[in-house]
Amino acid sequence: MVAEPTITKKTLLGVCCSVTQPAIRRCLMAAVMFCVISLLVFSYYISNSELHRLNPDPPQPSFQCYSQSSDLLNNFHGSSQLNVHASSARLRLDPKVLVIIESQYSLLGKQISEILEASRTRFKIEIAGKNLPVLTRQDKGKFAVVVFEDYEKYLFMNKWNRELLDKYCLEYGVGVIGFLRPKEKPLVHTEIHNDFDLAISTNLKLYDYHLNPNSSVLRLTRPEETFYGDLPTSDWTVFHSAHSTYKPIAWARAHNLTGKPASENQLMPTLVEDQGQIDGIQRVLFGGGFKFWLHKLLFLDSISFLSHGKLSLPLDRFILIDIDDIFVGQKGVRMKPSDVQALLEAQERLSHSIQGFRFNLGFSGKFFHHGSGEENKGDDMLLNHRRKFWWFGHTWSHTQPHLFDNISVLETEMLLNHKFAKQHGIPVNSGYSVAPHHSGVYPVHEQLYEAWKKVWNVRVTSTEEYPHLHPARFRRGFVHRNIMVLPRQTCGLYTHTIFLNKYPGGPARLKNSIYGGDLFSLFVYNPINVFMTHLSNYGNDRLAPYTFESVVKFVKCWTNLRLFTVPPLKLAEKYFELYPEETDPVWINPCIDKRHKSIWSKTKTCDQLPKFLVIGPQKTGTTALYTFLTMHPAIVSNYPSPETYEEVQFFNGKNYYKGLDWYMNFFPVLKNSSSLFLFEKSATYFDGELVPMRVNSLLPYAKLVTILISPIKRAYSWYQHMRAHKDPIALRYTFYDIVTANETFPKSVRELRNRCLNPGHYAQHLERWLSYFHPRQLLIIDGEELKDDPASVMSRFQRFLRIKPFFSYRNRLKYNPSKGFFCPVTEENSVKCLGHNKGRNYPPMDYRAEKFLSTFYLPHNVALSKLLNKLRQPIPEWLERDLSRG
Ligand code: A3P
Repeated sequence: MVAEPTITKKTLLGVCCSVTQPAIRRCLMAAVMFCVISLLVFSYYISNSELHRLNPDPPQPSFQCYSQSSDLLNNFHGSSQLNVHASSARLRLDPKVLVIIESQYSLLGKQISEILEASRTRFKIEIAGKNLPVLTRQDKGKFAVVVFEDYEKYLFMNKWNRELLDKYCLEYGVGVIGFLRPKEKPLVHTEIHNDFDLAISTNLKLYDYHLNPNSSVLRLTRPEETFYGDLPTSDWTVFHSAHSTYKPIAWARAHNLTGKPASENQLMPTLVEDQGQIDGIQRVLFGGGFKFWLHKLLFLDSISFLSHGKLSLPLDRFILIDIDDIFVGQKGVRMKPSDVQALLEAQERLSHSIQGFRFNLGFSGKFFHHGSGEENKGDDMLLNHRRKFWWFGHTWSHTQPHLFDNISVLETEMLLNHKFAKQHGIPVNSGYSVAPHHSGVYPVHEQLYEAWKKVWNVRVTSTEEYPHLHPARFRRGFVHRNIMVLPRQTCGLYTHTIFLNKYPGGPARLKNSIYGGDLFSLFVYNPINVFMTHLSNYGNDRLAPYTFESVVKFVKCWTNLRLFTVPPLKLAEKYFELYPEETDPVWINPCIDKRHKSIWSKTKTCDQLPKFLVIGPQKTGTTALYTFLTMHPAIVSNYPSPETYEEVQFFNGKNYYKGLDWYMNFFPVLKNSSSLFLFEKSATYFDGELVPMRVNSLLPYAKLVTILISPIKRAYSWYQHMRAHKDPIALRYTFYDIVTANETFPKSVRELRNRCLNPGHYAQHLERWLSYFHPRQLLIIDGEELKDDPASVMSRFQRFLRIKPFFSYRNRLKYNPSKGFFCPVTEENSVKCLGHNKGRNYPPMDYRAEKFLSTFYLPHNVALSKLLNKLRQPIPEWLERDLSRG
């Protein structure tokens, strides 16, 4: 019996593979057939998820709270006795935290900044040991809470600083947070400072973390829950005191020396509130850092408590879970009817914890019924239950919009999908859509926005790419062409993460993220979260329902947060109500972020952006400089604008909202981009509040050129310019009236006064530019020199740009006595001066106005001379003159 198969094999081999020629051929044929059959069997296994499933039972969201009460998960509105930190006292405090760190490299300091950044809490970092920053401004406290990364730096601060800080805290009702750091040699029951009646034991390993339900500090944190088990790290500090000022916020038990739990180990305070009975200052002291996830919550609560609610996060959280790739998934990893059933059940369960919860499904009709038989039934079942979900459409074949410059391709793609939706009764009025791989959303592909509006009437989208994918805590929203772009968060599930056992980095990584880690933190920090998941995350191991049900249970267990889901349009409106300052987009150079570049149209190039900008201010000779620059063989200017002539005026005013493509279209595509210098000049950039930030985002390496003349002369020239343009106010009022206009003058006159005088606050505007650009990037031209000796200025300019070839302006600029200025000499040797509106004839300035302005600009000129000294720049003659007159 045992020998039989061997005999059969032998016989078979013997038949096929005897040593004769035909036999060898037969043998080869058999081998080929064997390979083909093996391949077929193998591919069948690969494509059939049932067979290659490693874990036949999808994981269950089995997390249970220890404190779980029956109605916990049904409770939309949380506990009615939440601590309210808001105070009725009239507090003169800015909602900002002062963080004193040990050094710029210290880990805890970095973690503190990250938490504050992620929760959008305003803060200022200072390094311990230096003098304290200015704490007040016009009788207002600049900080509502002071955090010490190392509490000892507070306790043993020099006397003068300490007294100053204590006085500030007492006077403004400001609290202090301190972290107790581990010691080289452990301390046991040691007094921390003579004045505080508090002892500590350090370097402990702790377990079982209990919260004090009577603590007024807890607000986000739900105090009923207990963390059982070992706490991370063995460097904890616990507090000992009999003084009634110290009220524990949390306790834990310490392991005995052998590292095992002592059977009757008492709870020891790990986090205490100092109620201020000793010196009137309220404090919260942490015996451990953020390796223990719960401390992030407790830190935010401490900030909220000590700032009297000025830095409290809201308690409502809005969650949107998108399921993209509906119908798109590969055969073998799509949803089957049982998965759809599980999805419906998960939605039902989630809706008990998240008010109004619905999954939001994004589909591409082309791939409908492209799965196995069972998977196609899954597609049908999704459609049968379509009314139970929200839907959003995108492109028919899930194509990336940035690949198509032709809008009609995108429109056709969307129309096909729209038709599919109509045929299958899918609702298409959500006003929401997303783009595959974020393509076209940011960096903006205008054609996508246009097609979206036309076909789907899209008003809202979301992306992870604005301003950048990393760090995720800085993701923000913006509005472009009336479409609201929401920041999207990453939940750790991608198209290919479909089995828990194969989760990148191991299943523990996903679990850590859920149970107190990154995903949980997103719920804590962000009032509004949009998450993206994929069809494949709902089949296979059903990782998405597992992840979200688990994290929601965990959030409900450990926090007092109230969870809601609202339709995308409402969600976006809420978002921009909460963060109105985000409405304005910031255009970032797509070439400085690899991810941005990969989703930017290949027909676009950053070579089409200027290498330097002439930033103004107005009336200092900017047109003359612009004209001279265009004479250089290696310098290329922008195309003129029909509205603003040679100036593009992109970075200030409304043009900025027209987007990057609009701006780039003002510049030619250069064949020899490396040796040519594109530039533009817009004289209004100089004093624009947002301009330096915007320029820095798009052109961080650009060089900047400014021209300065006496601000008094500049103001007068500007006034004459307005008169020449028939401005009714300038025509009606004298220059003296305008520059001296006080509150008794009509608003329109005061507005004109500001426009006339503000650009002359040179130092203030230059400082703003220099907070974004290195001084090496800035060239300051003396406007008088430009007028009297333009050739020298142009030589210096070329050295500043390091441009080749060097172009000699000596013979190409000629003084024209009747014009009173230097004028370009054309190739044909004729002189072509600037138009009559540059170098105008007007009466000299009235003496009173000149006198008034000399005094008015004196402090600004003093500041300018200081700045020029700091920058090691020469002081122009006009500045010396103005200073001596003031
Ligand atoms: P006025 O017309 O008041 O004399 P801008 O181009 O920035 O608006 O500046 C205009 C000013 O440039 C003129 O102001 C003029 O004084 C000055 N300017 C400097 N060099 C010039 C030149 N070569 N030709 C004409 N104007 C020049």
